[in-house]
Amino acid sequence: MSEQEVKILAIESSCDETAAAVVVNGRDVRSNVISSQIALHTLYGGVVPEIASRKHIEKINQVIAQALNDAGETLDTIDAIAVTYGPGLVGALLVGVAEAKAIAYAKNLPLIGVHHIEGHISANYIENKDLEPPFLCLVVSGGHTHLVRVKDYGVYEILGRTRDDAAGEAFDKVARAIGLGYPGGPKIEKVSHEGNPHAIQFPKPKVADGPYDFSFSGLKSAVLNYLNSCQMKGEEIVQADVAASFQNSVIEVLVANAMRAIDEYGMERFAIAGGVASNQTLRGAMEEACRQKGVKFYHPSPILCTDNAAMIGAAGYYDYMAGKRDGLDLNAVPNLKLGER
Ligand code: KG4
Ligand code: ZN
Repeated sequence: MSEQEVKILAIESSCDETAAAVVVNGRDVRSNVISSQIALHTLYGGVVPEIASRKHIEKINQVIAQALNDAGETLDTIDAIAVTYGPGLVGALLVGVAEAKAIAYAKNLPLIGVHHIEGHISANYIENKDLEPPFLCLVVSGGHTHLVRVKDYGVYEILGRTRDDAAGEAFDKVARAIGLGYPGGPKIEKVSHEGNPHAIQFPKPKVADGPYDFSFSGLKSAVLNYLNSCQMKGEEIVQADVAASFQNSVIEVLVANAMRAIDEYGMERFAIAGGVASNQTLRGAMEEACRQKGVKFYHPSPILCTDNAAMIGAAGYYDYMAGKRDGLDLNAVPNLKLGER
């Protein structure tokens, strides 16, 4: 290992993307290969865990070989292996974890188990070389909605979380209900451009005893009730208006909670992360709200918002620098909590 450079091979397989990347010193992405299973799961209207695991097994060696090749590296020239070990689908996670352990054992390389959400947060480091903790981060993905105070590298305080559905899950469920199919987020965003976000007044749910917590299942039910009532009354359902009005409610709640936390904790920097963070309307609303407060706003490119291994290489680097190492007994932890090891 050279003194200045830590080259990490990162692996991600927690859900429906098989991904590998080579990342140098946490922020310099030399390769980022993603094999998406979305087309496969679209047939079933959502991710089928068993199919996801099988597909990961099929793809993982190819994806790693491609990532090494794109970066001009081999297993003999990298310094450490980072792998997502939770949270996620257990069978899917196990594929990445087993692969990472095999490489670490065969090549005698340090192994670092990475938390998937820490990866999403760390995606912000890649294109924003000036971003350093402390900052506030809103993680909005298919499985998680967390408002996190990043106090230092690898040091997190969760200020708020969803009490029921994750933001991305709400997008996916509403998309299915209005006939857009899977994956819901990008489809809702697309049709929303043709809709009126104020056409239907859906609730903007607040959680009484948690100022930074979220609840999206009531909003989803309100959309379902609206659709039922239109059908019963024989009224026309304007798909684009339903999508735009739903998206508007989600965004209002996300912005309100984030801005409240920024004020309360006096944060000067705010970042968003996770699949839903690739939504341009959400980004625009967050950017404007931050501009009004004089807070610097960060977000990853869309390809680094949804699941990828570059973000795992970024988070893994800071874990590595903090001396975190895992043994060959590393296991997948499907419900791993943020900040837990
Ligand atoms: O981070 P991610 O790739 O996987 C998880 O860790 O969950 O996030 C996937 C989620 C899905 O629910 C998807 O519908 C949502 O992110 N998503 C979006 C957009 N792109 C992906 N939601 C809203 N607008 C988008 N443009
Ligand atoms: Zn994710």
